[in-house]
Amino acid sequence: ALKSIARRSDLKSYVEQTPQLNRLLRLTADRYVTGEHRKDGLKVGRKLVDKGYAVSIEYIGEDTTVATECEAAALEMIALIHDLSQGGVPARVSFDLSHIGLSLDKEFAFSHLMNLAEQAQEAGVELFISMEESSKTDDILSVYERAASFYPNIGITLQAHLTRTPQDLAAIVALPSRIRIVKGAYQEPADCSIPRSSTLSDRYLELVESAIRQGHRVSIATHDEHIIEEVLERGWLSNSDVEFEMLYGIRPDLSSSLKAAGHPVRIYLTYGHQWFLYLCHRIAEYPPNLFQAVMDMVSS
Ligand code: FDA
Repeated sequence: ALKSIARRSDLKSYVEQTPQLNRLLRLTADRYVTGEHRKDGLKVGRKLVDKGYAVSIEYIGEDTTVATECEAAALEMIALIHDLSQGGVPARVSFDLSHIGLSLDKEFAFSHLMNLAEQAQEAGVELFISMEESSKTDDILSVYERAASFYPNIGITLQAHLTRTPQDLAAIVALPSRIRIVKGAYQEPADCSIPRSSTLSDRYLELVESAIRQGHRVSIATHDEHIIEEVLERGWLSNSDVEFEMLYGIRPDLSSSLKAAGHPVRIYLTYGHQWFLYLCHRIAEYPPNLFQAVMDMVSS
């Protein structure tokens, strides 16, 4: 529900036009978002790289239904790729296909993706497609599969909580891309998803194992200590193509202790004007953040 609230343009403009509310929500968002501009993401990315982390960067946005806004988002991503290749930060560029046109027309998103992939390949940058609601999974996978057969520098995210995911993994196994496994951040119907539970953690580990066994490069994107301990115990990190990936601002203690123990850790950074949308995602997947947001406001 929080996500549909975040997408309501009337609420978004109310937040934007109410300076006090905007300022208070920004305080909480600042935990998870580097800032509104590319330079903010690049600056934090540089610091993290200097500390020994790898980095992914996302220009926040999704469900864009105005063609010129999709084009503007794709141009921003090209500028990001360009800045990264000009010695800024060695990072992966991550995005939602619905930010560059999927919600308007699959072919429109595909042409943007192909253009981005070409620019990224020339620049030596890796692209990474996020996974969105289950109503978009087929479209995302079909656009990804077509583009990844031309460009091996495009990775894909799979959600362990969808019951269909083992089949999706089997279907893309021939492609050389890196695969990011996440639990899934969207509220999905009970008949096609597994709620947060030990069953979901087991499913998560099965997917990681299956992807590694089939020779994929894998990003284990979770803050779940139980899963991380299992991964370490099973020795999967000895494979040089396997890494942990965590969201900026979430469990920095955990990412830092894993890095200190010598494990490869990537931090996923975001920037952009749509920080409110991103904040709602983080609250929706972890409701105690709502309490944190209220505490931030009260103590400011
Ligand atoms: P879980 O939700 O069980 O959380 C484990 C622990 O982590 C919690 O107990 C808490 O301590 C901490 N934690 C988790 N979320 C937190 C939050 N928001 N704030 C504070 N603490 C929190 N999803 C998706 O549907 N599509 C996608 O493309 C992506 N992409 C993506 C990339 C990367 C790099 C990561 C790390 C995550 C995603 N996600 C995602 C989000 C993912 O699906 C999932 O919602 C979050 O990772 C939280 O799930 P955990 O695996 O951490 O477990």
